Amino acid sequence: MKRILVTGAGGQMGAWLVPALRERYGSGAVMATDIRTPDDELLGGGPFQLLDCTDQSALGHATIRHNADAIYHLAAILSAVGEKDPRLAYDVNMGGLHAVLEVARSQQCAVFTPSSIGVFGAETPRDPTVQDTITRPTTMYGITKVAGELLCDYYHKRYDVDTRGVRYPGLISYGAPPGGGTTDWAVDIFHHAVREGSYTCFLGADTQLDMMYMPDAIWAAMELMEADPAKLLHRNAFNITAMQLSPESLTAEIRKHLPDFTIDYDIDPVREAIARTWPKRLDDSAAREEWGWQPDYDLAAMTADMIEHLTAEVADGSDRTENHNATE
Ligand code: NAD
Ligand code: SER
Repeated sequence: MKRILVTGAGGQMGAWLVPALRERYGSGAVMATDIRTPDDELLGGGPFQLLDCTDQSALGHATIRHNADAIYHLAAILSAVGEKDPRLAYDVNMGGLHAVLEVARSQQCAVFTPSSIGVFGAETPRDPTVQDTITRPTTMYGITKVAGELLCDYYHKRYDVDTRGVRYPGLISYGAPPGGGTTDWAVDIFHHAVREGSYTCFLGADTQLDMMYMPDAIWAAMELMEADPAKLLHRNAFNITAMQLSPESLTAEIRKHLPDFTIDYDIDPVREAIARTWPKRLDDSAAREEWGWQPDYDLAAMTADMIEHLTAEVADGSDRTENHNATE
C-alpha cells in the first residue's frame, strides 16, 4: 500500500493525477498539497494541505506526518510565465525540486518529477527528436527542467533515491485550466470552439508541436512509478508522445464536430519563438521498450472526447477557463 504526497496538486495535471492516485491507492493515502487552495471537487475530496514546495522544513514535516513513501512533484512555473518572471521560475523549479529530493533522501521516498519538451532548444533536431540528443534550451523553464533531470539522476546515483520522470509534450485536458505554458493554445482552442465557435490563436497556423491527452499522461506517471527499476535505463528523462498538432491541423479536426468553427491569428512572438525551438515529434522508443509506454488517444479520439466533455460542462455551467497564471 503506497502513501503519496503530491505537490502542485491544484494545477492542470494534479486535478487528474490526484483522483487517479486516490482511486488506485485509497483516498486517505494521497495527500494533495499546493501553494493555493483548489476547488474541492477538482481533487476528489480527500486530504489537502497548503504547502510551498520550496519550504523544505514544511515539506519534510508534511511528508513525515503523512508517512509518505512517494512524492509526485508537480509544482512548477511553466514556460510562458517563466519568461515573464525568470527569477520565480528558477526559485520554484530548482528550489522546489531540491527540497523534494532532500526530503526524499531523508525519508526514503520515491519521487516522480515531470520533465518536458522544454528541455530541447534551437540546436536540437525537431522531427524526430530522439531520446539522447542536444538539450540546450532557450527558456528559464527549459533550463530548470534540464537541470532537474540531472539533479534527479544525481540523487539516484549518489543517494539511491528512486527518482523517475518523463518528458511530457504539451498536455491537453478539460477540468483545471493550463497554468501558463506555450502549449496552452491547444486547450484554450477547445473552450472557445465549444463556447463561442471561434478562437484567436497566439501561435502561427503551421507551428507543429508534440501533444498528449491527459488520461495518457496520468497513466504514464503511474505506470512508470510501478515499473521494474532494473529495466529503467533513462530513469528521469523518458521522451513520451501521443500526437503532433498545429493550430491548422487541430482546427480541421475540430471542424469535423463543429463545422462552423473559425480561427484567426494574433501571434505572440515570445511563445511562437519558444515553440519553434521545441520538438515537432518526439521519438519515444526508449519508453516503449523500457516500461511499455503506449498511448490510448490519438488526435481524433482526443478531439471527440474533449468536445463531448466540454459541451456537457458548458451545458451544466461547470466549464473552467480561468488560468491561475494568465499570461495575457
Ligand atoms: P500548473 O501550472 O497547471 O500547476 C502547477 C501547480 O503548482 C499550480 O497549482 C500552482 O499553484 C502550484 N505551485 C506553484 N508554485 C508553487 C510552490 N512554490 N509550492 C507549491 N505549489 C506551487 O502546471 P501543470 O500543467 O499541472 O504541470 C505539472 C508538471 O508537469 C510541471 O512540472 C510541468 O512542468 C510539467 N509539464 C506540464 C506540461 C503541460 O502541458 N501542462 C507539459 C510538460 C510538463
Ligand atoms: N506545456 C508546457 C509549457 O508550455 C511544456 O512543458 O510550458
